[in-house]
Parts: sequence; structure tokens; C-alpha cells
Amino acid sequence: MVRQFCYMLLCLVIMIIVPITNGISSRPPSPGYFPSKKFRSMRFSQGFRNLWGPQHQNLNNHALSIWLDRTSGSGFKSVRPFRSGYFGTSIKLQRGYTAGVITSFYLSNSQVHPGHHDEVDMEFLGTTFGKPYVLQTNVYIRGSGDGNIIGREMKFHLWFDPTKGFHHYAIFWSPKEIIFLVDDIPIRRYPRKSAATFPQRPMWLYGSIWDASSWATENGKYKANYNYQPFVGQYTNFKASGCSAYAPLSCHPVSISPNRSGGLSRKQYYVMAWVQKHYKIYDYCKDRNRNHSLTPECWLRG
Ligand SMILES: *[C@@H]1O[C@H](CO)[C@@H](O)[C@H](O)[C@H]1NC(C)=O
Ligand SMILES: *[C@@H]1O[C@H](CO)[C@@H](O)[C@H](O)[C@H]1NC(C)=O
Repeated sequence: MVRQFCYMLLCLVIMIIVPITNGISSRPPSPGYFPSKKFRSMRFSQGFRNLWGPQHQNLNNHALSIWLDRTSGSGFKSVRPFRSGYFGTSIKLQRGYTAGVITSFYLSNSQVHPGHHDEVDMEFLGTTFGKPYVLQTNVYIRGSGDGNIIGREMKFHLWFDPTKGFHHYAIFWSPKEIIFLVDDIPIRRYPRKSAATFPQRPMWLYGSIWDASSWATENGKYKANYNYQPFVGQYTNFKASGCSAYAPLSCHPVSISPNRSGGLSRKQYYVMAWVQKHYKIYDYCKDRNRNHSLTPECWLRG
């Protein structure tokens, strides 16, 4: 009788604990290679300038804070444009209610090609109390504004709390592929399948915090609430290594892999698949509500 009771208790404990630990502490396996350690950091002032909202930007000991309040957000931009490279920064996000707020790190040439620009985004979509941030990755090719906007969004949850400390977020852009990385773990690869589906014109590097209440959080259901202002994004450990637009054509694209042939290693591919299996929450190619006629890279996938 006592023994039976103990078995029951044991079963109960297992039933409760297993789902909890499964849900929380699953960290990705090691990628085996750490590009963020390979490229040197630069100071904000060495490579960037304020672009807008200068009164909402503060540099303290090489850490940059930008913030959004009722009056304005803020953004910065690299001094040089690039043709390819590894672009990274460590970011710490605001805690609490941040719905409607976007904290971003991205490549773009929108200022020189308005209406038909290229863009590669890492955007943190703010959230409501108790819900995790969403990291949205996106690629635009020659599109914006003219009602012909075609985003190529893939969204993720993270395996850590991005408000508790700095984590390194990076975009790798070579003539063959774009790879998004979080703490050196490749989370998404966007290969060049054709000239029409790949950004090829020089882009600048940007960061910003702004109010995107109309769509950012659960498709606009939750808006920015300025009772919680200011919303602060902290950036440090800036990296931009590659071929600037002014470099000779012989400039060789950098690599983020131990593999001499250039592509990701088998281990890096494995970790990327692992992250997509456990943390990917949206994939534009799998969205049944979308018309895929203009995204041919989706046609071959299931
Ligand atoms: C190197 O890359 C190639 C092509 O992407 C791949 O087939 C090969 O398995 C990789 N080698 C290692 C050691 O990961
Ligand atoms: C999808 O988009 C293409 C190109 O814009 C258009 O010709 C086609 O009619 C659309 N299909 C549907 C089902 O809306």
C-alpha cells in the first residue's frame, strides 16, 4: 500500500517536472566555430554616425543606448557602405511591456534606391508582459513602397532571455548567401538562387528603435504604451568586417566557417536545423495565406 502510493507520487513528480525542464532549458548544441571571436570589434564612433533622434542617443564607455519615447525614436548608420561582410553587434533589450516597439539591426540601401531598395533585417518585436520577444529576420530585394512589397520573413523565439544581458547578433552577407547568427549559432541561411532574388547592390549598416504599433506585436493587436517609456535598446561590441563598396574588386569575401570550401560546416548546418526545429515560429515559405508566385525560392520546399 505504502509502496503503491510512493510509485504514484513518483509518477506525478515526473509528469510535472519533465515538461517543465523540456520547455525551458533546451539550449542549442555547439556550432563548433565562433565567428564573433574572429572579427575585431570597433568603437561606435569609428564606424557609425547618428542618423535621426540624436537627442535620444547616448554613448557610455563604448556602449550605445538609443531610446524611444512619445516624442521620438532614434537610429544610427555606418559611415561606409559594404558589398559583403560580417556585421555584428551585442544587444540588450528592454524588459517589461514593449509591445509595438522595434529594436533593429539591419543592412539597407533605402536612401540611395528609394522605392526599390534592398534590405536584410534582424528586428526584435516588442512584447507584452510574460511573453517572449520575437526575433524577425527578413530579406527584401528591390522592393518597397510601391505596393509590391515582398517580405521574406522568418521568425524565432530565443533560447535565453534577451533582456537579461548582451547577446551577439550578426548578419553574414557574401555573394553566395546570407546567414543570420545569434551568439555564433547560424539560425537561418538565405542562399542566392538567382540574381532576381538576392541583394547585390552595396548596403549600409543601421540600427534603430521605433514605434511600429501597426504591425509589430501579434500583427498590431498590442500597441506601444507610453506609460512605460522610455524604451531603451543597448548596443555594444560593433563588428563590420568585409569588402566596403570602395574596396578593389579583388577584395575577397570573409568566411564564417572553418570549412575551406567556404560554405557552413556540417556542424553549423546541424545546429541551424536544430534551432529551426525548436525555435522557429514563422516561415514565409510555409504561410498558406501568402501568394508565393513572386518568391520562387519557396517553390521547391514543402
Ligand atoms: C564543407 O562544405 C561542403 C559544402 O557546403 C560540405 O559538403 C562539407 O560537408 C563541409 N565539410 C565539413 C567538414 O563540414
Ligand atoms: C498571385 O500573384 C500573381 C502576381 O502578382 C498574380 O498574377 C496571381 O493572380 C496571384 N494569385 C492569387 C491566387 O491571388
